[in-house]
Amino acid sequence: MASMTVNGQALQYRLDPQTPLLWALREASNLTGAKHGCDDGGCGACTVIVDGRAERSCQLPLSALEGASVITIEGLSENRSHPVQQAWLAEQVTQCGFCEPGFIMAIAALLQASPRPSAEQVAALPNRCACGAQLRILRAIARAGK
Ligand code: FES
Repeated sequence: MASMTVNGQALQYRLDPQTPLLWALREASNLTGAKHGCDDGGCGACTVIVDGRAERSCQLPLSALEGASVITIEGLSENRSHPVQQAWLAEQVTQCGFCEPGFIMAIAALLQASPRPSAEQVAALPNRCACGAQLRILRAIARAGK
């Protein structure tokens, strides 16, 4: 059993402690915003915020999350009102949309820690878009950081 807060709600997952957070969120909580991409920590599609840091949920076993505070794209804000979501819409970033929740969560965590991130910090984001929306994503980051 693992107890944590997900989007402000106290939850207990009665699953194998080695279950990745991604699957607890998607299967047990029906929070499907975090996506299953590469499953090896390389794409960032599964990114959520854990205790204020962007984390790849496919790589986090429940056993490592006792007492943690988890925020998913569903809990980031209501009505797409988070500055990153507003910038996303303004820059018309979305293409296929698969990487979108993970990117938005990683950028939200980055801007929380560093409101005006350096080019190196942006380049270090662990997320990848296979559609070619990367330039629009960079514009959205710049817009959200203003
Ligand atoms: Fe977790 Fe790709 S699915 S990093």
